[in-house]
This record gives sequence, C-alpha cells and structure tokens, in this order.
Amino acid sequence: MIFPIEQFEGLQTPFYYYDKSLLQQTLDTINREAAKYPGYHVHYAVKANVDPTLLKLIRESGLGCDCVSGGEVETCLKAGFPSSKVVFAGVGKSDWEINLALDADIACFNIESIPELEVISQLAVAKGKQARVAIRVNPNVDAHTHKYITTGLSENKFGISMEMLDEVLDVAMKLPNITVIGLHFHIGSQLLELAPFSLLCERINALQEQVEKRGIRLQSINVGGGLGCDYENPDANPIPDFADFFANYAKHLKLRPGQELHFELGRSVVCQCGSLISKVLYVKEGLQKKFVILDAGMSDLIRPALYQAHHKIENISAQAKGEAATDVYDVVGPICESSDCFGENEVLPVTRRGDFVALRSAGAYGQIMASHYNCRRIPASLVL
Ligand code: LLP
Repeated sequence: MIFPIEQFEGLQTPFYYYDKSLLQQTLDTINREAAKYPGYHVHYAVKANVDPTLLKLIRESGLGCDCVSGGEVETCLKAGFPSSKVVFAGVGKSDWEINLALDADIACFNIESIPELEVISQLAVAKGKQARVAIRVNPNVDAHTHKYITTGLSENKFGISMEMLDEVLDVAMKLPNITVIGLHFHIGSQLLELAPFSLLCERINALQEQVEKRGIRLQSINVGGGLGCDYENPDANPIPDFADFFANYAKHLKLRPGQELHFELGRSVVCQCGSLISKVLYVKEGLQKKFVILDAGMSDLIRPALYQAHHKIENISAQAKGEAATDVYDVVGPICESSDCFGENEVLPVTRRGDFVALRSAGAYGQIMASHYNCRRIPASLVL
C-alpha cells in the first residue's frame, strides 16, 4: 500500500487511516462471489468497526448487519441499514436492548439460552410483537485459533450444546410470540484454513435432519463469520479469498430449496483497509536493545497485548525516502504496561524521531477496541 504521507503531515497522531477504495474492492468481491450461490446473504459484523464512512459504504453495497448490543443496533439503524437486515446476537441481552430491537422489528434475534428465550417472549407479548429467533448451537468444532477467539467448542458461555437442541426447540415452539426461523453458528475468528468450516457444515447437515424429523422447517442457517486475514503479508493478500470460502460452503452444506444461508463477516471485510498511523517519539538505546517508542499504544490498538497478535510494522517515512540501511528494534508504546509492545526484534529502516509508522491490517477490532486507559484520547479516523 502506498500511503499518502503528505496528507498525514500536521495531523494529530495516532489516528486510523482507512483506504476507501480497498474497502470498496473488498465489498465488490464479496458481492460478486456470494451472488454465485442462490440464497447467500452477507451481513457485516459491526463489532469490527463502526466508522460512519465505512458503515455507509458497507450499507450502500447491500450488506446487512450483525449486532451484539443495543448500541450496535442503534448505530446501524442510524447509519440507515433497514431493520429487515439487522440481526441481534449476544449471550447477555438486557431488557432495554431487547425492547429496542422489538420496537425496530429487526430480522432476527440469535438466542443463546432458555432464560433468554423466555424473557424475549415476555417482552414481545407485552408489546404485541412477534420475535423471530435463530438458536445458536455450539457445533463442537475446534477452530484452531487463539483461545480468546474460539467459540465453537461444546461447553462455553456462547450458545447451547448440540445435545440440548431438542429441549430448547421444545421450549421455543411453546412460547408465545416466538417464531423459530433458523439455527446460528459461529466457531471462532481469524481462521486461515477452511477445514473447520467444512466440519461445521457436516454438523449442520446432521442437525438439519434432526430438526426436520420433528417437522420443523428452517428458513435460514447462519454460519457466523471467522474468515481470517493475512496479517504478515497485507500487500500480497489485501482481499481474503472469498471465492474459496463461499465455494467451500456450497460444496459441503446441504441447503434445502429456498433456504437462506447467512454469513456474519467482520474481520475479512474491514481488516486490510485500515492502518494505525503513529509517530516515533524517541529512539532509545539500551545496553543490548534499541527501542522505537511510538505515540500509539495498547489503548489505541489492543490486539498485540490481548491476543499476542502481530501487526506488520512499517516505517513509511523511511520507505518514502528510500532509506536502505536497516536496524533491529523493539517497537513499543508509551503506556505504563510491559505488554504495551507491538513487536520485538523488528527489522526496520533506520528510524528517527518524527517518522510515521504504520501498524498494518488494523481496520478490524482496532479503533473500536480503543480505550481511554491512562486518560488517553481515542484515535480519530482519516478516510481517503
Ligand atoms: N458472528 C459472531 C457471533 C461473532 O461472535 C463474531 C466475532 C463474528 C460473527 C465476526 O467474526 P469475524 O468475521 O470478525 O471473525 N476482537 C477479536 C475478535 C473477536 C471476534 C468476536 N466475534 C480480535 O481482535 O481478534
């Protein structure tokens, strides 16, 4: 990616820079590839990023949205997404959040427990509304990703285990003002191989048969998100392989005639279009190591500290000048935590105070997870 450094001069760093044209190309690819299969519907998992300009492009491209809080439902409605394309998931929905979604007549609640079903039913009855629900099932598939972003194993706080599906359906079918329209799954995030998704399809095929034996016909299957991004080679792989991803579902999942297949893609939509742009404050020489101290820290991009993630680090000022000499640095932030470190032993062009540094592939789960820790400011957006 060529960064428009001239436009960065004079701006308060750190900030998030988003490349609109890469997002547009990504959306076009998603739409082109999904359109090859009848009944495929893509929703954007808005938890990845809610920058208004990005949301507008995503809405205009026709994606729906997957929300996990009342705040996200409000944000999407405000951004102009039709309520018929809004789904609401989450293991702990508050009453006000459920009421807000009922008032808006959203497409579907992804429900995760019997007590939640009962509360949605009560609140729907009180409003005289019908709540459409999909039951989230843990398919017991290991996503082989970081343990904090693995969700599909059988016993965890998300969803219900497969063994409980019959019982939950029994309850759901009897509750007033509840219509079961589908099943929902999400096995984890940042998956770089398709095998776990194929296994998910096998589980779904078996569950569909089980459900149909009870005379229930499902309008939709929702397989969540999870398609990963290439964090080490963002320029070689700026757009995830959506063709393979959708083709794999088409190959392994037995949809019924007229049945819809929903996806909730977060990271794969916005990851590569965003970078956190920071300035070098100091280059500090220790006994053995040299430290590049950035003005961006874990309050701006928490993924390295929280998931031991690595975002490619580029000294874009030195790159622009064609600086050939390199050195080895630990690249750290200014926050009073040892985990506030973006990379150890990074080989970078010789780096100086005032250089711009880009932390790549930060469009997903970057700005949205920023905090005020140490009373720091939330980084702004620059969308070009
Ligand atoms: N659907 C459900 C039910 C989810 O829980 C998630 C993500 C998604 C869809 C979207 O998944 P994606 O396509 O983005 O993989 N903060 C972490 C990622 C947390 C993902 C949580 N759930 C990170 O920075 O890696």
